[in-house]
Amino acid sequence: MVTGADAQWLVLAGCAGSFCITIYITILQERERNMTEKNIFLIGFMGAGKTTVSLALKKMYRMELIEMDQEIEKREGKTISEIFKIYGEPYFRELETGFLKGLHTEKLTVISCGGGVPLRENNVKAMREKGKIVWLCAAPGTVYDRIRTDQGRPILTGKMDIKHIAELMEERREKYSQAADFLVNTDGKTAEEIAEEIWVTLEEADLKSGKLYDPGDPYMLQRQQKGLMLQYEYNQTRPDETKKRQELLKKMFQEIGEDCYVEPPLHANWGGRHVHLGNRVYANFNLTLVDDTDIYIGDSTMIGPNVTIACGSHPLEPGLRSKGLQLNHPVRIGKNVWIGAGAILLPGVSVGDNAVIGAGSVVTKDIPAGAVAVGNPCRVIRMLEPEKE
Ligand code: S3P
Repeated sequence: MVTGADAQWLVLAGCAGSFCITIYITILQERERNMTEKNIFLIGFMGAGKTTVSLALKKMYRMELIEMDQEIEKREGKTISEIFKIYGEPYFRELETGFLKGLHTEKLTVISCGGGVPLRENNVKAMREKGKIVWLCAAPGTVYDRIRTDQGRPILTGKMDIKHIAELMEERREKYSQAADFLVNTDGKTAEEIAEEIWVTLEEADLKSGKLYDPGDPYMLQRQQKGLMLQYEYNQTRPDETKKRQELLKKMFQEIGEDCYVEPPLHANWGGRHVHLGNRVYANFNLTLVDDTDIYIGDSTMIGPNVTIACGSHPLEPGLRSKGLQLNHPVRIGKNVWIGAGAILLPGVSVGDNAVIGAGSVVTKDIPAGAVAVGNPCRVIRMLEPEKE
């Protein structure tokens, strides 16, 4: 949470996104990803799509790819079926554990794991230390269709039918679920769609983590750019293009209720991507949103002209700051709040229902419901009487 002492410098928060986007978009092609902490381990049942999706991740996001079974086969000089046949399953499981233990990645890597990997707790621990674990799911029928002619899966030898697949899947469900950071259903989706879903989920988790991340990640900027393009279109609309404006706002904002009105120009770093509006929210000209994480604005809230609501913040420590790192804190504004012209709301603050924020105030700390608060730093000067029934 933001402290009073931090508050003044946080006014600078708005610089982050726009500065980065100008610089980094131009070097999109040259930049290499190297954040090893975001290696992706794909787990899930045989035929869930791990191999196909890992290839799509490699291609779309220029990741390194490790196909675990292939690596084990290379090391042993035998196929998985031969390993099972000659040495038995426990020996193969030891190979999987040894592989994960010794895994070292220099670059951002996707590791497509064998279906049995999450069954051992120490395997899960090793994966957690080295990256994020994504569980790919598919219906038993889909799995059967994908692998029924494949002879290379000894676990299903002589038992290649939907009933057995469904039973084994159910048996493993809890292990997969406990291991995974999140799950993605692969039924009816292309490998590219699934890869993008995984990537976006990881990016969004960074933005919402409250921890430092690199806002110059090229793929993040590409996505940010989409929001900015919509916002550009919105800001070019004529006053009588009411329908077009409503349609655009629906695409731009994460959530938007009935009868909201946002007077252009709007300036949002993500074009509203993380903004949640209730019903009947009104915002006057030049609303500026540093919307790198969630901004919630409740029903019937009114926002005067030139108001800034900032979520993005940077480390105080100069070394870290020079790396362009960022962290975000959500802003929550309640229902029926009135924010006066030119007010600035800093990262992490909340304003309670029915509160009034005076024009030009700088809100550095939470303002309770029903308060009238003004100034820099914004302080409560009186409490409004609850209305009589
Ligand atoms: C296994 C899955 C296989 C392979 C081995 C055992 C399992 O990998 O590791 O046959 O126990 O589920 P895929 O999930 O890539 O088919």
